[in-house]
Amino acid sequence: MMRSLLFVPGDSERKLLKAGSSGADALILDLEDSVAQSRKADARQTVAGYLDSAKGQSKTPRLVVRINALDTGLTDDDLGAIVRGAPAAILLPKASCGADIQDLSARLSVHEADAGLPEGQIAIHALMTETAAGMLAAASFASKSARLEAVAWGAEDLAADIGAASNRDETGRYTDVFRLARSLTILAAAHCAVEAIDTVFTDFRDSEGLERECHAAVRDGFSGKMAIHPDQVAVINTAFTPAPEDVERAVRILALFAAAGPGAGVLSLDGKMIDKPHLRQAERVARRAGLEPGSLPDLG
Ligand code: COA
Ligand code: MG
Repeated sequence: MMRSLLFVPGDSERKLLKAGSSGADALILDLEDSVAQSRKADARQTVAGYLDSAKGQSKTPRLVVRINALDTGLTDDDLGAIVRGAPAAILLPKASCGADIQDLSARLSVHEADAGLPEGQIAIHALMTETAAGMLAAASFASKSARLEAVAWGAEDLAADIGAASNRDETGRYTDVFRLARSLTILAAAHCAVEAIDTVFTDFRDSEGLERECHAAVRDGFSGKMAIHPDQVAVINTAFTPAPEDVERAVRILALFAAAGPGAGVLSLDGKMIDKPHLRQAERVARRAGLEPGSLPDLG
């Protein structure tokens, strides 16, 4: 489960140390925008060391590394330094189309072979709305690589790409282009059958604002949210954990369909019709609650 994914600047030993006990489901060890150009090499070494020290430890968050974009010329040095440490996934910023995913996947295969890792072990997460090109190519991300595990959206780089002075209006609501980026991410995730990850909430002292944004994200189909500060993690984890009554209802629906067998179309529960979409929704809640498929708890 990846409810919360906490960004940690890759060149900050201090923040890396702190991040491990933040409670985040995943850490995004950043080699990109939070690291100054002059510190890229330091950050690679620091992140590589962190990955090594996490190996063999039982209860660590999933470790994701954000590399520099494919057009920076830094990508292969990034991968050369960190693939050996076997991160769970690579976050690709400024992904501009599905071909970028294929490109990264091929490079990963080479680095995995060099490092003696099984091919395909490292997953890919893609930031797919940081450029106008990425947004317009949203449909192209599907079926390009089995490594793709999640898509996420970013608002800051998109503002820079399109020349928007701000991504929010006077009331604090995202303006249309950014709402579209958010929507395209939800749609692309469903189209690719991967997780949809909501963007960061930069005002890290405003926990009520964060909570509101988390609830909207859960409502609209996101399965997790990126964080920039440890204080945001608990708020995100709580919001993205399904309520016990929702889990119980989902389990009842799954049990009902399981008992009815493969021929079941429409069934009834508590005097209401339930059919295929309800089953898919129930499967989704069960997944979010961390229940293994096929192992339904006994409701008595
Ligand atoms: N990961 C781990 N630890 C973090 C952290 C993070 N993302 N953000 C803050 N901390 C630590 C600080 O180091 C500090 O620890 P200390 O008490 O041991 O010094 C503690 O949490 C409290 O931090 P605070 O003083 O409230 O914030 P700050 O002013 O030090 O940092 C930011 C604010 C925004 C610079 C910082 O949160 C940060 O670097 N966030 C990540 C930025 C990033 O990666 N951006 C790229 C993606 S958008
Ligand atoms: Mg960025």
